[in-house]
Amino acid sequence: MDPVYLDHAASTPVRPEVVEAMLPFLHVTWGNPSSSHRFGRAARAGFEQGKRQVATALGAEPNQVIFTSGGTEADNLALLGAALAARSHGRRMHVVTTAIEHKAVLAAADAVVTLGGEATILGVDSNGTVRLDELDVVLQREPTLVSVMWVNNEVGVVQPMATIGAQCEAAGVPLHSDAVQAFGKLPIDFAASGCRLLSISGHKIGAPKGIGALIVRDRKVVDAIIHGGGQQYGIRPGTENVAGAVALGCAAVLAQRELEGHVTRLRALRDDLLARLRAGVCDIVVHAEAGAHAPHILSVSIPGAESEALLMHLDLAGIACSGGSACSTGAIEPSHVLVAMGVERSLALGTVRFSLGHETTTADIEQVAEALPGIVARVRQLTASLNGV
Ligand SMILES: Cc1ncc(COP(=O)(O)O)c(C=O)c1O
Repeated sequence: MDPVYLDHAASTPVRPEVVEAMLPFLHVTWGNPSSSHRFGRAARAGFEQGKRQVATALGAEPNQVIFTSGGTEADNLALLGAALAARSHGRRMHVVTTAIEHKAVLAAADAVVTLGGEATILGVDSNGTVRLDELDVVLQREPTLVSVMWVNNEVGVVQPMATIGAQCEAAGVPLHSDAVQAFGKLPIDFAASGCRLLSISGHKIGAPKGIGALIVRDRKVVDAIIHGGGQQYGIRPGTENVAGAVALGCAAVLAQRELEGHVTRLRALRDDLLARLRAGVCDIVVHAEAGAHAPHILSVSIPGAESEALLMHLDLAGIACSGGSACSTGAIEPSHVLVAMGVERSLALGTVRFSLGHETTTADIEQVAEALPGIVARVRQLTASLNGV
């Protein structure tokens, strides 16, 4: 049986159209886009096309697109860049974010604290939705930046970005959103979103790893965090990744063109998977199911079974997905997202995330649904015997 890949929130295969678009920029049009000769001009044309395509797909302007090495760098540029810009204007550095962000945001918020600034972490409810009352309170302190992820990568909860955008705009506080898991799965209109900064990543939408972007509405809001030549308006210096920009542009065009059909298909597959899993494992617990959730992520906990063992057995059965825990200092810790949502520790340790993508088929879903009940039974037996039950 062919292996089944249900880990698209971790990474996606590069789409053939993207490979075709970017290849010439590796070995034919390989000049430095800052060079004024024909080699440079040709490379510049590809880079600018990538910018236009990314901008169009997101409802932004081409000169608002700052390419980065990925989502992590875009998030760091947003938080640290905003903090540094505040400091250079003689203001306090104070970033506000949520307890369920990707580590790229949480670690960047920690770095702001290390620089002498402040970070406020907003809580979430049991569904993973940000506590808007807490946001209201902290906005009165006029922080430097608020950063709220559009779609959570572990449980798929979608935040009420329009409301958050309006709250931040009313308070005159810039809003950043990590839209890495939202791009290509939800319509995004940057201009209307209330966001001043938005992060995306190529490898979640069929472009290669190592390319992403921060969309910047107002360049005064962010200072550079790396220093060099004046490329990309001086906000992100360094010789531009032309092939990466072309790839992200192409993937963005495809994402925008296919959005409606893709989302409908993913939702149907996700619903099918969930129905089959519920039928096969009766006490399965679904995370973040009450509110709006992304079409490609399904996070479940299986009482009495540990996710490490489940993942291993699923892998042996040819099924690739991921867990909801992290191994830190040798001990398995439940994910910070599930902890913030108030999920009980033992349940959080039994979490499996399935994430769907372009090549996912009904046959894949059937294969998982067929394999999981037997795997759960084996892992539960193993867990019980290890615990001396
Ligand atoms: C929500 C979110 N933000 C940021 C990142 C980091 O993106 P990258 O892998 O491009 O650095 C990821 C990747 O998993 C993500 O899911």
